[in-house]
Order: sequence, then structure tokens, then C-alpha cells
Amino acid sequence: MPFYAKLPVIGSIMENDVAKGNDFFRLDRLLEGMSDPSKLSEADLAKLERVIRDDSMPIASFIHIHWGSRPDADEKQAILDWIHAEREARLPKDTQGVDKTRSVQPIPDSLPTDPKKVALGDKLYHDGRLSGDGTVQCHTCHQLGNGGVDGLQFSTGIDGQKGGINAPTTYNAAFNFVQFWDGRAATLADQAGGPPLNPVEMGSKDWPEILAKFHADEAFMQQAREIYPQFTEKELTDAIAEFEKTLITPNSAFDKYLKGDENALTAEQKRGYEHFKAAKCDTCHTGITMGGQSYEKMGLYGDYFKDRGIPMTDADDGRFAQTKDPYDKQRFKVPTLRNVALTAPYMHDGTVKDLKEAVRVMAVYQSGKNLSDTELNEITSFLESLTGEHKGKLLTLENK
Ligand code: HEC
Ligand code: HEC
Repeated sequence: MPFYAKLPVIGSIMENDVAKGNDFFRLDRLLEGMSDPSKLSEADLAKLERVIRDDSMPIASFIHIHWGSRPDADEKQAILDWIHAEREARLPKDTQGVDKTRSVQPIPDSLPTDPKKVALGDKLYHDGRLSGDGTVQCHTCHQLGNGGVDGLQFSTGIDGQKGGINAPTTYNAAFNFVQFWDGRAATLADQAGGPPLNPVEMGSKDWPEILAKFHADEAFMQQAREIYPQFTEKELTDAIAEFEKTLITPNSAFDKYLKGDENALTAEQKRGYEHFKAAKCDTCHTGITMGGQSYEKMGLYGDYFKDRGIPMTDADDGRFAQTKDPYDKQRFKVPTLRNVALTAPYMHDGTVKDLKEAVRVMAVYQSGKNLSDTELNEITSFLESLTGEHKGKLLTLENK
């Protein structure tokens, strides 16, 4: 902080600016990331790129005092080159249509997987024996013919019990930087270990209870032994994670457009994409999955939780539940926008019932914009172009 930050009025203005700025973007973490790129998220890169291109930083009140603090053309180019090199290092190498100067990227056609593990994981994903009474499968809440979700505000687990947070899709979860809204699982395998013992989801007593059921099934064990020397929680969750790597959805209309097919999007969708970028949606909904790369505060430009009109719950804590750092309150892993037209209701609290309303809420609370009805329709139409293919077939809602 400069010397004048100690002056009474200016000091508090600056503190407010700094606190507000940190809600959006942590420059200190970016600086750490410059020496250790593993700490940089794609969202960090996208946000930095946006303010450099828009000339929107430093903020006016700062420039007013510090003439010459705006980067000049050479400095801007140096920052952009660095951003693009960092982004390129993370991009899949052999996917058509990737572009290091853009924050969103097409989904690759496939990820490398072991077919035997995938086959076993596919069975486990659809197996009620992970649950205490045999009735609940992963597929109960993450239905593959239903966008990878159950279409409910809160899922129904064992004995008809209700959870307290909306179920995200398993499609493209393989690309998330961590799993769960609060990031409490680092990998897909870690994640898969959670639901079986969760009392309101699958409600098993412990792993020995689950594993005994599989060990007693000779046909299953024969298949498992072809891959693994033993079969414990570790192998079980490894197989499910491997299967989930096949739940990716390439070839959406938008992906075809990114790969060069100008006609893949309608004129309305192209306008929607332009508004999407102008409202900075792509700085948080970034990368291959257009989400899943960072935690972001819900309610940057307004108090979403107060306006929502229903009492706060533990689920609203977001990342704070894991770190207990006040900075992480109401910060959630950004959900993917891939296949979002199929995954209503929306938000971690499942309170937003239709997609256009979700876009309006986002524009108001995350982008600080009141968009016109036409703009909302165009963005919504653009989001509909993000529905992709699984096993060569466009995803639809089979249950409807
Ligand atoms: C009773 C419903 C239910 C069952 C059964 C269930 N899930 Fe979930 N799943 C959820 C909910 C709700 C969340 C979000 C919880 C949270 O973030 O705190 C979730 C989160 C996830 C995520 C994280 C996605 C993301 O974007 O963060 C994955 C992956 C996942 N589940 C896979 C599975 C697998 C694999 C199984 C079976 C072993 C399973 N689920 C069983 C409801 C369920
Ligand atoms: C500052 C980061 C940020 C920006 C900018 C942003 N979003 Fe989001 N978006 C989020 C977060 C975080 C959530 C989850 C919020 C929650 O569940 O409470 C979310 C949720 C959504 C959802 C609901 C997805 C689901 O499965 O529940 C949609 C749709 C969406 N955003 C679209 C947009 C659009 C369109 C824009 C631009 C107008 C935008 N977002 C701008 C961070 C952002």
C-alpha cells in the first residue's frame, strides 16, 4: 500500500477497493502462480486476459493518482504472450479447434482409458450393492439419459431421504479441477468413495459391508481379478473413476463452430456468444468444460442469498466448509455449462427452475448487468448449443 493509504478517508476507500477487488480476483495468488504455475487456474488467466484487453485495470481512481500506471502496448503484449503460453501448456495437444488466445475450448473426442476398468466401472456405476439396502445406484442421481442428473432440486437417497444441495452432472466431471461444489474431493476416485457411506445418499455401514457383497459374487470377482490383484475400496473407486472418464460429450454445435464450421451455430446463438463474452461469463465459465476450474463467490454485484428469500443453510457456505477461511464463504466451484440445457434446476441450491432465469440471475449477481430480454434469449439459445454427444449420439432428456 502506498503512503497515502494511511490518510483517514483515502485509507478506508482503498481498503474497500482492495477487499472488493479480492472478491473478484486474488492478485497475490496470481503472483504465487507466476513462480509455481500449478497454482494458476484457467479462470485466473481468463480474468487477467480480459482486463488487459479491455483496458479496465487499474481502476480509474488509482490511475487518477498514479499517472502512467497503465501498462503500455509492449507491456500488454508481454502479459498476453505469457497468458497464452500458460494456457497452451494446459490444452490438449491433438484436439482440433483449440486456440490459446481464447478462454473456452472444444471437448476432445476421447480421453485415454483402460477398457477393462471402464467396463467394470460401468457396472459399478449401475450397481445398487454400493447402497445399504440395494436400492440406490450412482445412476439414481446421475442418470446418463437425463443429462447426468436427476432433475430434482435435491436428490432422493436411501429411505427416501433428501439431500441439501443440487446434484451436478457426472458428464465431463473428468475435466473439473476438483470435485463437489466445495471441492472436498481432489479426484474422481476420491469423490466416488463418498456417496456409498453418506447416510442420506447410499447409506452403507462401512466398506467391509460393501466389499463383502462383491467378494461373494464369483462372476463379478472374476472380471475384477483380470484387472486388479485385489479388490478393495481403492480398486472399486478407481474403476468408477475410469468409467467416468468416458462420460465426456464432444461434438456439440458450439464445438463444431470452434473447429471451424461457421454454420454450426444459428445467428441468434452467435449473438448470444458475443454477449456471453461481453458479460465476462467466459472468465469463470472457462476452459473445456466452461466451468469447473475455480471457486468463485456467488453474489459479486448483489446479495444473492438475501434476495433469494429463503433461510441460509450449511450448503450455502461453499468452499468455507472445507477451509474455514472467511474469504471462502459462499464461494463455489463454478458449475460446467456443458449440456446445461438438460440439467435444470440450477445453482447449488437448485432454486432456479429454467435456463433463461439462470442467465438473468448470473448477469445480475456475477456480471453486474441488467440484460434486455433479447440478450437473455440469445445467451440462452447459445447455451443450448453446448449440448454434446455421448457414444456418438446427441444427449437428450430420455425420461421426458
Ligand atoms: C442420492 C443421490 C446421489 C448418489 C446416489 C450419488 N450422487 Fe454423486 N452427487 C450427488 C450430489 C447431491 C452431489 C453434490 C454434493 C456436493 O457437492 O456437496 C454429487 C456430486 C457428485 C460428483 C461431483 C461433480 C462435480 O461437478 O463436482 C460426482 C463426480 C459424482 N457425484 C459421482 C457420483 C458417483 C460415482 C456415485 C456413485 C458412487 C454418486 N455420485 C452417487 C448426488 C448423488
Ligand atoms: C465470477 C464468476 C462467474 C461469472 C462472471 C459468471 N458465472 Fe455463472 N456461475 C458461477 C458460479 C459460482 C455458479 C454457481 C452459483 C451457485 O450455485 O450458487 C454459476 C452458475 C451458473 C449457471 C447454473 C449452472 C448450474 O448447473 O446450476 C449458469 C447457467 C451460469 N452460471 C451462466 C452464466 C452466464 C450466462 C454468465 C454471464 C452472464 C455467468 N454465468 C457469469 C460463476 C460465474
